[in-house]
Amino acid sequence: MAKPPIGGNRTGRKLGQKVKKGKLKASSRRWLERHINDPYVQRAKLEGYRARAAFKLLEIDEKHQILKGAHRVIDLGAAPGSWSQIAAKVTDSTDDDIRVAAIDFLEMAQLPGVKILQLDFLDPDAPRQLIEAVGGTPNLVLSDMAAPTTGHQKTDHLRTMHLCEVAAHFAVEVLAEGGHFLAKTFQGGTEKDLLNMLKLNFRQVLHIKPASSRQESVEMFLLAKGFKGRKGGVITAAVDEDGFARDPREDIPAEEDQD
Ligand SMILES: C[S@@+](CC[C@H](N)C(=O)[O-])C[C@H]1O[C@@H](n2cnc3c(N)ncnc32)[C@H](O)[C@@H]1O
Repeated sequence: MAKPPIGGNRTGRKLGQKVKKGKLKASSRRWLERHINDPYVQRAKLEGYRARAAFKLLEIDEKHQILKGAHRVIDLGAAPGSWSQIAAKVTDSTDDDIRVAAIDFLEMAQLPGVKILQLDFLDPDAPRQLIEAVGGTPNLVLSDMAAPTTGHQKTDHLRTMHLCEVAAHFAVEVLAEGGHFLAKTFQGGTEKDLLNMLKLNFRQVLHIKPASSRQESVEMFLLAKGFKGRKGGVITAAVDEDGFARDPREDIPAEEDQD
């Protein structure tokens, strides 16, 4: 995929625009300036995506081919819906043959071929509803969930990590063999136990920082490729030859993939 133009854009709007000092607080003005000058925001508008987040998924896919062969997709934390837009397209999902289920506690405008659940993913009934909505065994589970910020960095970090962990456990419960799991995480934040669990259930586990993820942000993505299946049951903890839980400090590192 061609990189967004630097210093200009195909929307015809110049980058480097300033927002006039007025009623806005300095922090809001800075946010707005960054937003309107962001080439990915402008490109998303141009290409009809609901969010700049689209390019994170497309960029990850360009290198790791997780969309090719996707036939049913579950999108966790989906609003406003750019990942669902991509998922609907690659699965040829239609309203008559739904292949994408999306969940968010925020309201999300309808999308052709996407069954939208306005619900908290942590609701105990959410997994059942998602499986029913997607109409079959998914082979791709996506999670871009980020907990609403409280202003307390450590709390925000822990809450988003918890969402990533619950999403990972959901993925190993529902994925078809060979399927993939992609989730938002934070730099240095993925729990060793979670990484170990993923390493045991998937053929490859990677940490990725796409170029479209703001460099100043601690956001990263965790990609687990090639689900090994549930034939012998999902492996939830590392065990030694005698079946005793292995020391979780003996972590299995995820590969780094930063370019
Ligand atoms: C970064 S946005 C997702 C953007 C989306 N991938 C796109 O392409 O448009 C993160 C979303 O996660 C949602 N979210 C966070 N916690 C959630 C939860 N417990 N259940 C459902 N959605 C959640 C938020 O409401 C927010 O809309």
